[in-house]
Amino acid sequence: MSLTAIIGGTGLTRLEELEILRRETVATPYGEPSSALTFGRLAGREFVFLARHGDPHTIPPHRINYRANLWALRQIGAQGIIAAAAVGGIGADMGPGRLAVPHQLIDYTWGRSGTFFEDELDHVTHIDFTQPYSEDLRRKLIASARGLSVVENGVYGCTQGPRLETAAEIARMERDGCDLVGMTGMPEAALARELELPYAACAIVANWAAGKSEGEITMAEIERHLARGMADFVKLLTRFAESP
Ligand code: HPA
Repeated sequence: MSLTAIIGGTGLTRLEELEILRRETVATPYGEPSSALTFGRLAGREFVFLARHGDPHTIPPHRINYRANLWALRQIGAQGIIAAAAVGGIGADMGPGRLAVPHQLIDYTWGRSGTFFEDELDHVTHIDFTQPYSEDLRRKLIASARGLSVVENGVYGCTQGPRLETAAEIARMERDGCDLVGMTGMPEAALARELELPYAACAIVANWAAGKSEGEITMAEIERHLARGMADFVKLLTRFAESP
């Protein structure tokens, strides 16, 4: 049976439901991944879990060693990646607590090490990234989400962080076509494609994006909605594990 990796984001530093089999610290040519890799079983199926922000949660989005994370997952034989991602909701149907499986993305980040193809090249490589997510994996996630509050599409805009956006930035992103805003989707998705690893994201809406609701966005609000959304995400994962 194929090994699927789960990258946990804010609100998912540990996957308590995973029956832990072993932990492995992996070295890569790009340095250390954010955390040790945890191999475990969920509903009888083996997964490997990586905490994107470290365990404990201490690495901000722009400091994550995305290359080490993706390289480590490929090195241990992962054949697909499900990335959990806390996001702000921009689209009217992307309210707090909802899950979404984005089908497209726009990258607003800068200065992150975003490719494996830059040193000691014998030729220059440009990956096709027309469809940034694996449609096959997306369909499996959507099928596993029946009965839960899930939006089946969405454009994910990736900002640099760690600060949240201004209302004008979100208004611009909305004009660009973004439905969701997060800070970690890139270069993660592109690096997975460079390694030819099928990759799909499950976004968990933690708050209305800046300017989309009255008042300030607080960490307390984010954590409250994330707790609810993550519980649904774990249900989705369990159904995914049970599916053939
Ligand atoms: N913006 C960017 N990233 C986020 C947000 C947001 O509003 N909420 C959770 N992650």
